[in-house]
Amino acid sequence: MAKPQIAVIVGSNRRESINRRYAKALAKLGAAKFDANFVRIDDLPMFNQDNESNLPPEVVRFKDEIKKADGVLIVTPEHDRSMPAVLKNAVDWGARPFGTSVWPGKPGFITGTSGGAIGTALVQAHLRTVMLGLGMTLLGGEAYVTNKQGLFDEEGNIGDETTQKFLQGFMDRFSTLVEKLTGKSA
Ligand SMILES: Cc1cc2nc3c(=O)[nH]c(=O)nc-3n(C[C@H](O)[C@H](O)[C@H](O)COP(=O)(O)O)c2cc1C
Repeated sequence: MAKPQIAVIVGSNRRESINRRYAKALAKLGAAKFDANFVRIDDLPMFNQDNESNLPPEVVRFKDEIKKADGVLIVTPEHDRSMPAVLKNAVDWGARPFGTSVWPGKPGFITGTSGGAIGTALVQAHLRTVMLGLGMTLLGGEAYVTNKQGLFDEEGNIGDETTQKFLQGFMDRFSTLVEKLTGKSA
């Protein structure tokens, strides 16, 4: 059977984003159980309700990519204790126009990294509230990862063994959640 397809959204448009590196490392941890497809959000125009009746092509592409995904992994930095504007913009486009939201019923896993010890705890809490409100089914637990020296090895894997085991547990539980909700498994 084909592996489940996971859409990966990185909540940063920064070229050297540590969250993109983290997302790639997570995709490697999940590679035996699903295919990770990175979905662009940095090219989406600023949400404007005036354009809902004639969606920009980038928005159509984004919504299609989420619609066809079996699950969504959101890896995001925290900006001013909440979600970066580029991510909120994508969430809003995904939810609109009314009746065409791509979020309901999607299994999701939210995580993120920053330099701070509790970095991303608040954005994750905010984002959970938003995505649960939009009907996603989210993986439980808290995966806050401090971006310290040695987090990644030279191949882009999680370098620290304890952190790697911790995150492997999340990816395994996420694939179980996706399987339960979609019936698809590797
Ligand atoms: C506008 C802005 C606000 C930020 N606010 C927070 C914050 O609230 N908490 C935090 O841990 N880091 C904060 N940071 C620092 C980010 O964690 C850091 O820039 C990180 O590298 C962003 O992730 P990225 O590399 O994936 O873009 C902020 C950075 C910016 C640019």
